Amino acid sequence: MDIMKKILDILADEFKKAFVECGYEEKYGMVSISNRPDLCEYQCNGAMAAAKQYKKAPIMIANDVVAKLESNKIIENVSAVNPGFINFNLSSAYVADYINNMSKDDKLGLEKNEEKTVVIDFGGANVAKPLHVGHLRSAVIGESIKRILKYAGHKVVGDVHLGDWGLQMGLIITELEVRKPELVYFDEKYEGEYPKEAPFTISELEEIYPCASGKSKEDEEYKKKALEATLKLQQGYPAYRALWKHIIDVSVEDLKKNYGNLNVSFDLWKGESDADEYIPEMIDILNAKELLHESQGAMVVDVMEETDTKEIPPCIVQKSDGAALYATSDLATLVQRRKDFDPDMVLYVVDKRQEMHFTQVFRVAKKADIVKEDTNLTFIGFGTMNGKDGKPFKTREGGVMRLEHLLKDVNEAVYNKIMENRSVSEEEARETSKIIGLSAVKYGDLSNQASKDYVFDIERFSSFEGNTGPYILYTIVRIKSILAKYKETGTKADDLVDGILSAGNSSEKGLMLEISKFNDVMENVVKELAPHKICSYIYDVSNAFNKFYHDTKIMSEEDKVRQASYIKLLELTKRVLETEIELLGFEAPDRM
Ligand code: ARG
Repeated sequence: MDIMKKILDILADEFKKAFVECGYEEKYGMVSISNRPDLCEYQCNGAMAAAKQYKKAPIMIANDVVAKLESNKIIENVSAVNPGFINFNLSSAYVADYINNMSKDDKLGLEKNEEKTVVIDFGGANVAKPLHVGHLRSAVIGESIKRILKYAGHKVVGDVHLGDWGLQMGLIITELEVRKPELVYFDEKYEGEYPKEAPFTISELEEIYPCASGKSKEDEEYKKKALEATLKLQQGYPAYRALWKHIIDVSVEDLKKNYGNLNVSFDLWKGESDADEYIPEMIDILNAKELLHESQGAMVVDVMEETDTKEIPPCIVQKSDGAALYATSDLATLVQRRKDFDPDMVLYVVDKRQEMHFTQVFRVAKKADIVKEDTNLTFIGFGTMNGKDGKPFKTREGGVMRLEHLLKDVNEAVYNKIMENRSVSEEEARETSKIIGLSAVKYGDLSNQASKDYVFDIERFSSFEGNTGPYILYTIVRIKSILAKYKETGTKADDLVDGILSAGNSSEKGLMLEISKFNDVMENVVKELAPHKICSYIYDVSNAFNKFYHDTKIMSEEDKVRQASYIKLLELTKRVLETEIELLGFEAPDRM
């Protein structure tokens, strides 16, 4: 099917034509969605601006234009209003046609983009440390952006980019030696094969890290040992490599389970360690361009630019002992990504407090041509998830909240809500509460602009009413249930109507108008990588649907053709909502 023009563009074309026919410039024919929906659906304010150029009263210009549009087939109820607004509606027949065309397109009328290759770096979990709520946002936002870009037709590679190479590895190794000195990994004379089985479980591992990290802060000697172990590991000492491999395997298995529960997945499970072998090449590139210089015992690249209004410190690429740093690893990773994927765009979904780091890394990468000149490097920095006290979200005891526990709490809240109604078995309620709980968490997060901090409020997020994930799911479930009832009657809507008919009342039209905005909304969502715009759109669609539902007798409608049209409208509404929640990264149950 042909690309579907957006409604606003179609309307603007009609207005531009009318302005030109009346002797005015076409640029005045811009239209927008009405800010007085009680008066009209759309408006054009061009006559006000044109008045200045043509030295005429705006209402006269508006009247001229309105006269040209009175018999227009796309536009309805057009009128000039003092001092010069033009108010109008979209024709009911036209919007029905439009959404019928939408339903025939597999992308619901979204314009196809030129395919780009995008690497998206999100998740960012650190091996051997439990996933905590700080990682939640990266996973939730990154997953949604990954899905949005795929939907838009791009080739997308999601990479978890594990933190698997730093001091935390040395800390764990050091603590393991304290606890289990008898292990072969600590016997320097050992020359045999290392065991296949890891010498610890995930729960041990998760306890070891905080313990070791605590000790290193108090005990200089301990910290020195951990630093040495880290260096030995990075230099390839076989025993430590073998241990490290165990740590990764045990940890990744657990991470996969946790991300799985969040409906989050990665195409690549690479980490900082994978960038290690690209470091020499990266350093060569910097040297060849003579960008590296010594500063206070470290090798740095200056990244300040003339237009900077605040200080951007030099990017430290190597410490005096040659050890790699966070920036070293991110720069080497860009070398690797270019070799592997030759990306047009690399996106990083990371806590916004890391913005300076990425500014420095991006500037070095561009200056040194580590990436192509036109490679788009984008940092999507997200804000903090706070508790009701406005401080970073914690457990009731004030500790770091583990993601697993957070999800459990949310599911419990939803479960209790479902059981209040007691319409399903306990078992079904348990299953359903997981699906709904995930929508509560994800929608609660994604409905905020990513860069903003937000308050995590289980009560509000899991409510079945208001601007929440469960409310959207409730709407979909309601549609599913009507469609199921209709199916039971044995009638097939397709046998009765070719498509959705012109709306019979205002709430039916209201729903159609919301649906018709899909491609416009999605174009912005893709351009701005803004899942929160999906949320506000599906909230509007859901409200429009529920209004329609309350105003309309669907199952008891006697005009079977009209009823069949309702059913087709329901099917399309469901498709729009399901497409959108899929892009947000959750799904709807059949009942709730
Ligand atoms: N592991 C890091 C953290 O927990 C996040 C990694 C983000 N990605 C990157 N390429 N630096 O803070």
